[in-house]
Amino acid sequence: MVTAKIAPSLLSGDFSRLAEECERMARLGADYLHMDVMDGHFVPNLTLGAPIIKSLRPHTKAFLDCHLMVSRPEQWVDDFAAAGADLFCFHHEATADAAALIARIHAAGMKAGMAIKPATPVDVVYEFAPALDQVLIMTVEPGFGGQAFMPGCMAKVSALRARFPDLDIQVDGGLAPDNIEVAARAGANVIVAGSSIFNAPSPAAVIELFRKAVTDAQPVA
Ligand code: DX5
Ligand code: ZN
Repeated sequence: MVTAKIAPSLLSGDFSRLAEECERMARLGADYLHMDVMDGHFVPNLTLGAPIIKSLRPHTKAFLDCHLMVSRPEQWVDDFAAAGADLFCFHHEATADAAALIARIHAAGMKAGMAIKPATPVDVVYEFAPALDQVLIMTVEPGFGGQAFMPGCMAKVSALRARFPDLDIQVDGGLAPDNIEVAARAGANVIVAGSSIFNAPSPAAVIELFRKAVTDAQPVA
């Protein structure tokens, strides 16, 4: 049975105080810290890379869930491993040889995740899922925080959950208290959220609300 993991996206944090923001989210109940890596090519935005993961690493023991929205993700595996990333999640659309990339990520000592954009069918994931530690079903077009959740992506989550009952299925983009139940019921158990956590009067309450929704939606063992 899968467990709920809540992953605040630091993209919505204060970049001038990133280490403090990581510490704050861990203290408020985050299971993972979601780090959005963008290259201005795969997506029309630029954020952070391995040097920032490296400089954060001594400041937090938290699980660094790195979401690489970059072209040619292969070129960054060694840098992210050396920086101390815990999970390296690449986009299926960005690589020609996903199987080789998954093997390289594991050989470098990281967990491997594969993400798909809203327009990518979930079927592409099936052959790789047994080798993956996590699959990310994007619920917005990658590139920016603060966009609206796309409920149409939930059919992909349900289809994946039906085939892989024990897989960590992550959703990312627009997750908020008003749609978490839809995502949890579809089968998502790893919840990324930026604006709905960071902009809340009580981020801890939102984290707990997400956790309860996922836990309540799990089948009873
Ligand atoms: C978008 C990023 C997300 C983003 C989510 O491309 O992958 O992780 O930070 O932010 P919200 O929760 O505000 O949609
Ligand atoms: Zn992300």
